[in-house]
Order: sequence, then structure tokens, then C-alpha cells
Amino acid sequence: MTQATLSTTTAAKGLACKECGAEYELKPVHICEFCFGPLEVQYDYEYLKTFVTRERIQSGPNSIWRYKDLLPVAKDPIDVGTGMTPLLKSNRLARRLGLKNLYIKNDAVNMPTLSFKDRVVSIALSKAREFGFSTVSCASTGNLANSTAAIAAYAGLDCCVFIPSDLEAGKVLGTVIYGPKVMAVEGNYDQVNRLCCEVANTHGWGFVNINLRPYYSEGSKTLGYEVAEQLGWELPDHIVAPLASGSLFTKIHKGFQEFVKLGLVDAKDVRFSGAQAEGCSPIAKAFEDGRDFVVPVKPNTIAKSLAIGNPADAIYALEVARKTNGTITSVTDAEIIEGMKLLAETEGIFTETAGGTTVAVLKKLAESGQINPDEKTVVYITGNGLKTQEAIQGYVGEPLTIEANLESFERAWERSQTLDRLDWQQVLV
Ligand SMILES: Cc1ncc(COP(=O)(O)O)c(C=O)c1O
Ligand SMILES: [Zn+2]
Repeated sequence: MTQATLSTTTAAKGLACKECGAEYELKPVHICEFCFGPLEVQYDYEYLKTFVTRERIQSGPNSIWRYKDLLPVAKDPIDVGTGMTPLLKSNRLARRLGLKNLYIKNDAVNMPTLSFKDRVVSIALSKAREFGFSTVSCASTGNLANSTAAIAAYAGLDCCVFIPSDLEAGKVLGTVIYGPKVMAVEGNYDQVNRLCCEVANTHGWGFVNINLRPYYSEGSKTLGYEVAEQLGWELPDHIVAPLASGSLFTKIHKGFQEFVKLGLVDAKDVRFSGAQAEGCSPIAKAFEDGRDFVVPVKPNTIAKSLAIGNPADAIYALEVARKTNGTITSVTDAEIIEGMKLLAETEGIFTETAGGTTVAVLKKLAESGQINPDEKTVVYITGNGLKTQEAIQGYVGEPLTIEANLESFERAWERSQTLDRLDWQQVLV
């Protein structure tokens, strides 16, 4: 297939406030100066309709940049192979949950840092370069720091990232290896974020999820586009995805709607269900209480990547779940661990705590009949389990240590037949 030449312009025509509609040029700003509402990228859909086709997309690169026409980047996108991750038809997990039409979108193998954050950062840093920033930064719950540091290294941008000081070793090592400045802040994500807002005002840096947030968040639309394309240019009936700030959840919705608007797929009422950890579930609580605002919480959960106590996009996420007849619900840390194990044992996918949260919510919805077994359901797995090994330490089996001879193996093999996989102890046989 010949590759289409990527355009060097963008159909993004400006930013608009999601609350009062005030319009802004495409600049590194994220908050409305009139009402403090968040800004969002606007596109010229009439113009896009004249040339965006399935064929044009399919002849693009095997990465998120096949959708460049629908992204706010004009030229020189940073293409590190992000996106086009597998969409697997689930067999064993589906059977376990009594579902007949389940798909798994596997961003645990996204490139380069094994989470969906590579999508948003690819857009944000491409835009940072366009705006002329030489230093990029972020306030992160872990995965974003990995991604920002890695893609900044590839693009030759200076980088300083901020994380809470209690993150998992894999998330910390998976950031420092790329050589950025790393600030481990003694506080939770919400405190990290507040500090970063101050730093953004005093240093002229491109903060991917602060002053570049309108562009950054557009990257999550590609999780919607890809699923629609991989399902054979069709929307699913139901999606289940995790929420921290709530951005990813709302942008999958925007992605589906844009495909409908451009005639790339038929319209469908897709239900949106969201997953949070009980120890940080301000959006799920608001949903349950019928509120359209969140009461901020202090996070206390093993799902550290989802630990945002005061989520920026909560009201929009609540709106999406309610108007699509979905739900937003939470699960305990024990259920999250069970979710991680369930996905690993049935589908061979090792996800992190965020994925465990999502699988546990999927299970809960399937068991309570909130997912119809025939619904074409897509569960979004957004991060990799190798980064959050602490969470499952002590909750999974261990190898049987044996001597280097056949007898020792035979004894261990016999013994292993009597052990439940989860009860394996490290023993010298
Ligand atoms: C693995 C993973 N999944 C999901 C999310 C939630 O993303 P959002 O803040 O867009 O809701 C995060 C956020 O950090 C994450 O790291
Ligand atoms: Zn406004």
C-alpha cells in the first residue's frame, strides 16, 4: 500500500471554552480567561469532510499519525510508532464473564513506554516543538512521566517532570532512565499539579497536561478512532475505560462522534462505562449520588496511576456516562488485584493496576447484568503490569526452586500437581 503524504497544515481552527464558548487562537493556553473553563480544540469539519476517507486513513502510517488530519498538529509530528495497538477478540475472559462479544484494546503494549500516555504525549510534544518550547514538563501519576521523558529524549527536548514521591519503582526507573530532571514531590498528585501550575507561570516551559492540555488531550481520541477502524469501521455498543482526570473517557467519546460526523462510521448509541478505584473514586461517587460535581478526595489506593483526587474533566465524564446510559463505578484494591490476575490468566496480558481496575469493573458490570452478553463491548487496557509489580507481590504464585537434576524436577512436578497455582511457595524440593 502506498503511504499518503501527511499534510503540513491542520484543520484545527482554534480553541474554544467548553463552558462559555469564548474563542482563542491555537496558543499554549488551557483555561478561559473569562470563566476559567477548560479550552478545547475546534476543527473545521466541513473542510475535513471534503478529503478525509477510510482509504486515506488506511494508507497512512501504522501509528496514531494515520489520523493526523483530525489532530491539532500542523507539521513534523513526532512519530515514535505510538498507537495501532492490538484489538483482541476475547475468548477466555469473555467466557469467564458470560459475555459473547468482548474485545480488549491492549495499550499495555503501546510504544514507546507501554501505556496510552504515549498517544497524548506524542501530540503534546509535537505541539511543544511547533510553539518553540525547548523544555517540556508534566505533573504525573507515573505513566505520563515515563512517556514525556522518553519522547522528549527522542525529540531532543529538555525535560523536567514532577511525580508524587511514593510511586512504584518501575514508574520511577522508567522515567529516570531517559535522563530528565525528575522532581519527586512529597505530596499526592493534586499537590504535584498545584505546584506545576505555579512553575508553569514562572518558567517558560511546555507542560503537556497544563498549558498544552488542549492539544495533549486530543491524543486520546485515537483510542476511539483505532477501535472503530479495527472493528471494521463500526462503533462498539459499550466501552469500559478507566478514569483519573476523566480526559481519556471523554475523548474516546469525542473520537467516535467525529468519525460519525465525517461519515466514516454509522451513528450508534455507544454506552460509556467508567472504572475507578474505591480508594480514589470521586467521579464514581458523584455518579452514584446523582451529582454533577465532584467532592475532592485524598487518594488511598494501589491504583496510583488513577489517583487523582480532584479530577479536571470529571463533570464532562459524568455527562458522557449519563447521556450514553453507561455508569461509573469503583472496585476495591483486592478486586483490582483479582482483575490483574484474571486478565493475565485468561488472555495472557499483564496489565498494571489501572487495567486491573477496569477489568474488575467489567466483571462487576457483567455479573450484575449491566452489560448485555451480546453487546459488542470493548474494554480499554491502558498500562503495563511490569511497572506496578509491588501491587501484586505476595498475591501471585512463586516458582518452585529445584536442584539441577531430574529427580528434583520429578518431585517438584508431582508436588506442583497438588498445589493450586496461587498457593505455590518458593521451596527447595
Ligand atoms: C494507565 C492509565 N490509565 C488511565 C489513566 C487515566 O487517564 P485520564 O487522566 O485521562 O482519565 C491514567 C492516567 O494517568 C493512566 O496512567
Ligand atoms: Zn469561558
